Amino acid sequence: MAGPVSMLHCACFPEAPWNSLTITEIMDITGFFGRIAWVDGMPAGFALALDLLKECEILSLGVLPERRREGVGSALLDSVCSEGRARGAECIVLEVAVDNSAALALYVGRGFMPVGYRRNYYQHVSRRSGDALVLQRALADLTIQP
Ligand SMILES: CC(C)(COP(=O)(O)OP(=O)(O)OC[C@H]1O[C@@H](n2cnc3c(N)ncnc32)[C@H](O)[C@@H]1OP(=O)(O)O)[C@@H](O)C(=O)NCCC(=O)NCCS
Repeated sequence: MAGPVSMLHCACFPEAPWNSLTITEIMDITGFFGRIAWVDGMPAGFALALDLLKECEILSLGVLPERRREGVGSALLDSVCSEGRARGAECIVLEVAVDNSAALALYVGRGFMPVGYRRNYYQHVSRRSGDALVLQRALADLTIQP
């Protein structure tokens, strides 16, 4: 699965792509879980997450440019949050670039709230700002999807 996920990551994050080796190393971390979204039999998006016991962390989430605004990102996020809840996590966290308006709209719309700020978190130069917000969503009251 590392190969397809790496291809998705490259398409979603061309400014900082993760290769198959990096994806494999992430998948080998204890507590890793993830999702690939399929549309019409083709991979359309992915999410990589870690179960850190009391909380889960979303390491990366992306949807192919040609499949955006179709609900794929929301479905990935809902599924990962649901699995985090099923694993017993009380909350889920992630970092998002302060100028990533699409992702911020997705996360805030799904109940994530800012709980921290990381200056110069992203090193690649293509972004106007390298600063990131830390977002968190409580999972305690989340209904677990089948
Ligand atoms: C952020 C991202 C995952 C959203 O995926 P998506 O499949 O387009 O999201 P959805 O279709 O489920 O959108 C859900 C809601 O998010 C918000 N949203 C998504 N894209 C948006 C955009 N470009 N501008 C404003 N709001 C946006 C909207 O509220 C949207 O609901 P609506 O379509 O009913 O208005 C996608 O744009 C992406 O892969 N971006 C590049 C990678 C990235 O930045 N990942 C997140 C890193 S933390």
